[in-house]
Amino acid sequence: MSDAVYDPWSPEFVADPYPVFERLREERPVFFHEPTGQWVISRYEDVDALLRDRRLGRSYLHIGSHEEFGRRPEADFLKPFWDLVRAGMLDVEPPTHTRLRRLVSKAFTARMVEGLRPTIRRLATELAGALADGGGGDLLAEIAEPLPVNVIAEMLGVPPEDRYLLRPWSAGICGMYELNPPEEARRTAVRAAVEFSDYLRTLARSRRDEPRDDLITALAQVVDEGDRLTEDELVGTCVLLLNAGHEATVNATGNGWWSLFRNPGELERLRAEPELVPTAVEELLRYDTPAPMFERWVLEDITVAGVDIPRGAEVALQFASANRDPEVFAEPDRLDLSRDPNPHITFGLGIHYCLGAPLARIELTESFGALLRAAPDLRLSAEPQWKPGYVLRGLEALHVER
Ligand code: HEM
Repeated sequence: MSDAVYDPWSPEFVADPYPVFERLREERPVFFHEPTGQWVISRYEDVDALLRDRRLGRSYLHIGSHEEFGRRPEADFLKPFWDLVRAGMLDVEPPTHTRLRRLVSKAFTARMVEGLRPTIRRLATELAGALADGGGGDLLAEIAEPLPVNVIAEMLGVPPEDRYLLRPWSAGICGMYELNPPEEARRTAVRAAVEFSDYLRTLARSRRDEPRDDLITALAQVVDEGDRLTEDELVGTCVLLLNAGHEATVNATGNGWWSLFRNPGELERLRAEPELVPTAVEELLRYDTPAPMFERWVLEDITVAGVDIPRGAEVALQFASANRDPEVFAEPDRLDLSRDPNPHITFGLGIHYCLGAPLARIELTESFGALLRAAPDLRLSAEPQWKPGYVLRGLEALHVER
């Protein structure tokens, strides 16, 4: 099989990567992909093991320089972007990661998240009701985006009149996570990073002077054995929570409804048995994984399924492929809304396991539940198009009617 089959820039691949992954898992579960310079890993067993393996990391800068890892130094103009990103927990490794995650977890608690359920339910019901009353519309713009954006903004304490700024800043920053981002995308990411940090620095300072009952205040005040977040870490953490706190949830909602419309038998079953919503959400997260790929740097030589991968290499862990591996999931290409157990890895594994998974699960169960109730006759009104990016894989729009 040629490498050309795995083409993360091709619209056909983005629309349906699963047949390619089926062949990769069987024929070349570990291979070097020249155009991205990454080792592509497609089997569940290997993705699972590598996510837990401390010989890999989301960064290598805690143990060596770019040059020592055979990489070019970062361009100077990118500094504001990297400074912001590396002030949050996602792109650092222990001991810094351990410290940041512990501090943030003390403020962003399970109790706080569970306490948000009534607010999330009310918002989901309002949004679903408006879409249903209007006879339909763009499910993505009217439900999938506003629900998670408003929930995370409300939780942190971003005033309602400023929330329109969040999507463009987040999209600008996330553009850097696509494969080989072009110069223009990198400049956009830097601009977004500068504007977003300036905005949050001002907001954080005002909360420090006048504390309120919100997460920014809690993060500014959190103390763990005398340790606390610096102002840069506080800003980096807020940006991370605001971005990670909605990007994948938006796509999980859009991709999930698109999967339901393509599987009308399962949609009918869900309408008849709404108690299936919790397992349905897990299955939709497995079946069309909203964040299909995450990368790791190889910090020491490793061997994966008999293939040697050297220190300094980068691996592309294909979550979407692992979630369709027949070694783990019976009939993996079938959408089965009552699938149980369902050990999908959509929220990751190991030390970077998604901090917001409980919140995402509440948002998704409430939003699917609310729309199923409000519009039991909802149907697709136009074939959706995929956005070009593979790393944040989502639809441009999802037009529905009743
Ligand atoms: C369906 C929705 C979501 C999906 C699929 C998702 C997926 C993920 C995955 C796979 C990771 C680990 C990345 C890696 O290992 O490289 C991650 C990390 C993270 N996620 Fe989520 N996420 C979702 C929603 C959320 C929400 C709602 C929040 C909210 C606050 C959030 C906050 C985070 C944070 C802070 C991290 C970094 C954790 C760390 O580095 O220790 N995510 N997410």
